[in-house]
Amino acid sequence: MLLILFLLTITGCSALNCVQIQPAQIYNGNIVYIPGGNGSLQLLPANYNCTYQILPPVNYKTGLYAKVILKNGLRGANDFIIVTDVDGKTTTMNNRTGIGGFPFDYLVFPGAQFLIQVTTKSVLMNSMFSITVEYHNAPIGPTSTLKTGSEMNYFEMATIRDGRNVFSSRTFTDKDSVRVQHSKLIDYTAMFAYATTPVIPEYVDMKTFFSGFTEVLEVVNFNSTGIIMQDLVITSDTCNAYVVDGPPNNSSKVIMDISNATMPKSFDLKYFSVINLDCDFVFGVKSYDN
Ligand SMILES: *[C@@H]1O[C@H](CO)[C@@H](O)[C@H](O)[C@H]1NC(C)=O
Ligand SMILES: *[C@@H]1O[C@H](CO)[C@@H](O)[C@H](O)[C@H]1NC(C)=O
Ligand SMILES: *[C@@H]1O[C@H](CO)[C@@H](O)[C@H](O)[C@H]1NC(C)=O
Ligand SMILES: *[C@@H]1O[C@H](CO)[C@@H](O)[C@H](O)[C@H]1NC(C)=O
Ligand SMILES: *[C@@H]1O[C@H](CO)[C@@H](O)[C@H](O)[C@H]1NC(C)=O
Ligand SMILES: *[C@@H]1O[C@H](CO)[C@@H](O)[C@H](O)[C@H]1NC(C)=O
Ligand SMILES: *[C@@H]1O[C@H](CO)[C@@H](O)[C@H](O)[C@H]1NC(C)=O
Repeated sequence: MLLILFLLTITGCSALNCVQIQPAQIYNGNIVYIPGGNGSLQLLPANYNCTYQILPPVNYKTGLYAKVILKNGLRGANDFIIVTDVDGKTTTMNNRTGIGGFPFDYLVFPGAQFLIQVTTKSVLMNSMFSITVEYHNAPIGPTSTLKTGSEMNYFEMATIRDGRNVFSSRTFTDKDSVRVQHSKLIDYTAMFAYATTPVIPEYVDMKTFFSGFTEVLEVVNFNSTGIIMQDLVITSDTCNAYVVDGPPNNSSKVIMDISNATMPKSFDLKYFSVINLDCDFVFGVKSYDN
């Protein structure tokens, strides 16, 4: 099971207080403005250094995702903002990037960590910034097995899309290991998830983008049991890809070899994972029609 840590680390604060999001502010529908205000740019003092932490919570039944809007109004040439995205990648902004309060949007999935370091130098340059964090429910299916150590991260796109209660996917990177077969340990480079619906299949394109690239797709039927895989088309000469039961943890068992699979294939399961070690292929997945 994932632990939810509401870590409130107060780091190197000065005049404007480095106030983190409080646990009581983290609930569905809430909007938090940092450092206050209404989402418009706010003035930064000199010598400011604060790392804002956005840690949307998750447990294995429910979670929240965060929509983050960052506005960069830096003016001082030496002032900067460092964004550490959910995949650990950092982006540095300064007074030449995205100036004028142009909003940058990010999505932080349940259980992920997202950091924004805001640093100004000793001279007050009237630099400004604003961070808006919106929390939304991210229903997690009862069998989404977040306890695997490799996080399955879902968020409900409906609230930011068209209002339908449909889950969607998000790609993120991970360094966890997967044991597939023959006691073979694999580091996968990308991982994403789909929730199935009945009737209309969700089409998935899996590709080996570069040598050594491996990816995992987790397919979950949230509402019932039974997933159908159909319309498999393999476009690479060789195909090293598998369907494993459960999440791609080190005790997963291969239940289908993609290279010689026959379609459509019914899985009497709530979820499975597709592991692509070296193959280009497309297929559809849907829930059993009830
Ligand atoms: C936000 O606050 C600023 C003053 O800080 C004000 O000028 C602006 O009109 C406000 N915007 C909205 C949408 O309320
Ligand atoms: C600012 O804070 C970060 C950690 O949040 C720290 O790594 C960095 O050294 C600090 N920089 C300054 C100039 O204090
Ligand atoms: C960024 O800093 C440079 C050097 O001080 C300055 O000339 C420029 O006007 C600044 N840009 C903005 C948008 O403030
Ligand atoms: C792998 O997943 C299965 C099925 O969810 C679970 O029973 C098992 O404990 C997991 N093993 C590890 C090592 O996480
Ligand atoms: C699950 O079932 C509910 C109620 O029937 C429905 O509103 C929702 O769209 C379904 N979700 C999926 C992912 O099929
Ligand atoms: C499987 O994963 C678990 C949890 O991460 C770890 O404790 C265990 O040593 C792993 N087993 C093997 C055979 O790698
Ligand atoms: C697919 O190929 C693997 C080995 O390449 C073999 O073990 C398996 O039986 C084959 N499955 C089918 C359905 O032909």
